[in-house]
Amino acid sequence: MPQNVQLPKSLEGKTVLVAGAGGFVPSHICEIYLELGAKVIGLDNFITGSRSNVELLSKNSNFSFEEINIIDGLPDFKGIDIDYIYSLASPASPIDFKEIPLEIMRVNSEGTLNLLELAKEKRARFLEASTSEVYGDPEIHPQTEEYVGCVNPIGPRACYDESKRFAEALTMTFYRRYNVDTRIVRIFNTYGPRMRPNDGRVIPNFINQAMNDENITIYGDGTQTRSFCFVTDLAQAIHNVMFSNIHTPFNCGNPDEYSITECAETIIKVLGSKSELSYHPLPEDDPKKRRPNLAKLQAISEYAPVIGFEDGITRTANYFKEMASNS
Ligand SMILES: NC(=O)c1ccc[n+]([C@@H]2O[C@H](COP(=O)([O-])OP(=O)(O)OC[C@H]3O[C@@H](n4cnc5c(N)ncnc54)[C@H](O)[C@@H]3O)[C@@H](O)[C@H]2O)c1
Repeated sequence: MPQNVQLPKSLEGKTVLVAGAGGFVPSHICEIYLELGAKVIGLDNFITGSRSNVELLSKNSNFSFEEINIIDGLPDFKGIDIDYIYSLASPASPIDFKEIPLEIMRVNSEGTLNLLELAKEKRARFLEASTSEVYGDPEIHPQTEEYVGCVNPIGPRACYDESKRFAEALTMTFYRRYNVDTRIVRIFNTYGPRMRPNDGRVIPNFINQAMNDENITIYGDGTQTRSFCFVTDLAQAIHNVMFSNIHTPFNCGNPDEYSITECAETIIKVLGSKSELSYHPLPEDDPKKRRPNLAKLQAISEYAPVIGFEDGITRTANYFKEMASNS
């Protein structure tokens, strides 16, 4: 393995561009760099992000923001040095796959291309946020980065899975053809504060149903598994990859694996809810198993998730309660 990650103690004087800054994961990435003293430029068109995340980040004078659709081109950064570029702008929820599939395909292709061209021009380091969905419904478990996946190119999830696979191909092409200093992370299911409460992913769904003592909707028989990572742990993993010197993809997430039924039961217990489980037909192409093999990441960095599932659920539920009481 190449040398270990050297994390910077300060990034004062450096500039980081974060595409998708108003989103859930990206807003936590922005915070890491603001804490390190970097200037952070956020871009977002708020298709799935939130203005309140940008307002929060804007309290730091090192944060600036431009509302822009990155498919249409990027702002003029003439005379501005950019050191790091984060390509994090993509809707990521199964609800979005149904409602805005073309926007997803375009941002992961044309949007990523625009960001890569900028990285080439500015000689910036570039990181693409890919996904565990590139593995599709995996035939090997847990998933290692060498596994090339089992994806249905014409199914209802293809707009996301295949456009992320294309984004990875584009990123590796800019590395090989133009020597752009690229990184790729494959993010596994992540949850935590600043998720949209109604975004259709399993954890916000279950928490909101449990908080209201409603039936918890489980698709399939509940034996399918997922590994859930708390968002601050994920942001740390991504930051470690940015400061590695390896261009091929890294899995990022938490390897603790739960069946969907276990996950619902834990949420009911932690929130002291009266909800009951209600089972419904499984959607097409829903993966049966999901768990990252983190050996590659852990070989180059000290990474280990620190927030356990029950703690993470409590923090996320508190965030949703606070949002509800402010609205
Ligand atoms: N959260 C997860 O579990 C997870 C898992 C795998 C991969 N990812 C990836 O991580 C990244 C962030 O995901 P998230 O869960 O925080 O989603 P999110 O929707 O909260 O964040 C994405 C942000 O990008 C913005 N955006 C989308 N299209 C845009 C465009 N054309 N121009 C400008 N801004 C645009 C959205 O408005 C949003 O603020 C995405 O690339 C996603 O695919 C997330």
